[in-house]
This record gives sequence, C-alpha cells and structure tokens, in this order.
Amino acid sequence: MTTIAKSHDPGQANPFLVANFAPVTEEHVISNLQVTGAIPEELEGRFVRIGPNPSSKQNPRHFHWFLGTGMVHGVRLKEGRAEWYRNSYVLTDNAARDLKRPQLPYPRKTHGGSVNTNVLNIGGDLYALVEAGALPMKLDGNLQTTAYSDFSGTLKGAFSAHPRRDPVTGELHVLAYEPSKKYIEYLVVNTSGLSRTVSKISAPHQPMIHDTAITPSFVIVLDLPMTFNLVSAMTGKFPYVWNPKMQPRIGLLPRSGDADAIIWFEAPLCYVYHIMNAFEDAGKVVVDVVKNANYFDADVIKRGVKPPIFVRWVLDLQTGKLAETQLSDRSVEFPRLNDSRVGQSYRFGYTAQFTTDLQFGFACKHDLQTGETLEHSYGPGRATMEPVFVPKSTAGAEDEGWLLSYVYDQNTNTSDVVILDAQDFEGTPVATIHLPVRVPYGFHGNWVADCDLRF
Ligand SMILES: [Fe+2]
Repeated sequence: MTTIAKSHDPGQANPFLVANFAPVTEEHVISNLQVTGAIPEELEGRFVRIGPNPSSKQNPRHFHWFLGTGMVHGVRLKEGRAEWYRNSYVLTDNAARDLKRPQLPYPRKTHGGSVNTNVLNIGGDLYALVEAGALPMKLDGNLQTTAYSDFSGTLKGAFSAHPRRDPVTGELHVLAYEPSKKYIEYLVVNTSGLSRTVSKISAPHQPMIHDTAITPSFVIVLDLPMTFNLVSAMTGKFPYVWNPKMQPRIGLLPRSGDADAIIWFEAPLCYVYHIMNAFEDAGKVVVDVVKNANYFDADVIKRGVKPPIFVRWVLDLQTGKLAETQLSDRSVEFPRLNDSRVGQSYRFGYTAQFTTDLQFGFACKHDLQTGETLEHSYGPGRATMEPVFVPKSTAGAEDEGWLLSYVYDQNTNTSDVVILDAQDFEGTPVATIHLPVRVPYGFHGNWVADCDLRF
C-alpha cells in the first residue's frame, strides 16, 4: 500500500517553511535511543545527513529551500547500539552571525552563504558541502563545524555537493561552478583529500550543475536550462532560473580533461538534479537520471507540472543521438546505488518518493534487469528521505546490504532512522531507531564507517 505523508499546508505562502520542511530551533545530544529490532553489529560508524534549516526568520515570499542555513544530523552506531543522535548548525559566517557565535577560521575569503547539501568523507575527514562557491566546511566526530577548508590550499575555486567517487581508484571526480564565472571546473580529489584542477570547460550561459557521473572513459557534464540570472541574484531571489530558450545538452568529457574533445549530445528539455549512475556499453554511454520538468524557478513556489521520473539516456557514439526510455512509473528523486558499481553496469538502484507537490513517502528499489520497481511503505503518515545503501561486504551480491534512511512520522512529529535489508526490501525493517525529535526534510546523507575516518 502506498502512503503519502502530507508535507505542507497548501494555504501557506511558502511550503519550505512549514510542516516537516520547517526548521528546528534546538541542537541536541541525545543518548539512550530506543530501538525496535536489532541494529546490525557490522554497522560501526555514523549515519549523517544534511539539509536546510534557516537560522534567522525568513521572508516567506522569497525564501528558497536551497538557500537555508545547513544543519547536520547524525546517529552513531556501535556494537549493535545507537549511541547518540546529534544535530548541529553548519557554522558558516552567515549562520554564526544569526546565532551570535564566533565566526570560524577560513584559509581564504569565501562567501558566507549556506553549506547545506551533502555531508561526505573526503580523505578521512568529514565535510559539509555545497555547490556554487562556498568552501567545504570541516566537521568533527560530534558533527560540530570546526573550520572552512580548501583542502590544504589545493582547492583554488568552488567545490560541489556531488563529488563522484571512483570505486577503482578512490578518487573523487567533481564538476564545480560559480555564478560569477563562465566556465565549469573539472577537479579530481585524491584519497588524501587534496584537489587538483584538471581542466576548465567553457560555459558562457552559466548553467547550474548539481551532479555528475563517471564511466571508465568519461565524466558526464549536464548542461541544462537552469542558468544564472543577474536580476534574480540582485533582488535576493534564487539566482538560477528556468531558461527554456537554451538548447539542453549532455557532454562526455574525456577523463583526461581535454575540454576540446568533449562530445555533446542534444538532450530533452528538462532539468536533472541527480544522476543514478553511468556506464559504457558497446559504443554507447548509458546515463540513468531523474528527469524534472521546470522544477523550482525564481518564484520558489511555482513548481513543475510533471513529476520527476527515473529515465535512461543512451548516448550513441556512432549516431550522436540520445535515446530515452522510462525506467519506472513512480515519481521519485534522490537516486542512490551500491557505490561499488559507480561507473559500471549495475542492476539495482534506490530512490525516495518525491512528487510535484512536495510529498515524500515510500522508498523504491529499481531492478534494472527485470524492469520491476518495488516499494517499501514505512506506514501511514510516515515518509522517508533519501535511502542510503550500505554493503554488508565488499564481496557480496550487489544488493546484499542495508538501506538506511531518516523517516518522518507525522503522527508523532518525530523521526526514526530505519534500517532495511535491501534483499528483503518490502519486509519488516531490520531495525528502527526512534528519535524523540524530528529531522526536517533535507537533501543528502551518507554512512561513514569509523574505519574510513581519521578520528
Ligand atoms: Fe543533490
């Protein structure tokens, strides 16, 4: 059965400031968490996630979800126990000002805008990340922000919230942009967390590029019609607007970074925030994406009329044409997979329900071999955010692992961390960790194992 948690009152002016999109005002450290089921003992680390949590009162006419102050949430798991839940603001300069706290050190001047989109282990340290210019912010093991970081001086410009880790080399591949610059930077970050700029790709129309993907030969460049608009920026609105006059395109940048050798394909009129995966297949490059209509424009509230759908784009290197097929009939976002399959052919992907009227609800498991989409309903009035796959071992089957997610329960106005067995996707959760507080709907998270961190 499908259940949908109502996420906002349609009568309110701005859906991103009400119900479970509304910010929480307290930072907690909560131990002795109640658990239903049994937390797998193999899970030793932190399940962290981040989202916008405005730290000052916002004008509901102009507030944009993407611009809210970041807040990190996390649970610490060890020896089958949930040791704690914590949440804390990401202390950018703007957040420090709002909260009347000291500003944190930074190695070079950056804008103090929100860092709210992803939280990731880079070179053994934990970072909060955002695109479009603000530096990454370093977090400690208790999720406290300690400093801005430019990766020991190696990050010269902007970063991204969606680095793509090559499972073969462990390096991160990144496309970064800034509103003031008419190029995209292709960066590679090594396993020590040091960045190098490989090349710059001309982008005179200044597109917003949220995600990328890799194959053994290429880096995927989405050049789609959300472009910088100076008037919006100058008037305090979200600075990227829907620009349907622009020809959408998708590029295959050689991994060498040779920007002159990029191969462009015309793409359908759409915007893509997230790519599930990409791989090469006999003279073709397959890119699986969540395709949105004109989602989120400068007026914030005005949303696309078509639901986000999970589609496959096959780029034929011989014909130069893109062919699209739909992979699921569900309205979904936040695609994830077993990260050991990044850049390679794969069978299973995972998404969260996300509709045009901002409803979260079930999780999906997509079997790309059979075409089947399974749903996991978390129960009436309960809605999951992005599901994160954690493999049981490096040698197991592709779907041999757990799916972790933060699940909001509108019945109690609290959230749980739910752990599913990915091979028993529709079954009873392996464990549910009950939080006495709610975690607002947000963006991305990751499982960060203790063995992969320096602290
Ligand atoms: Fe994202």
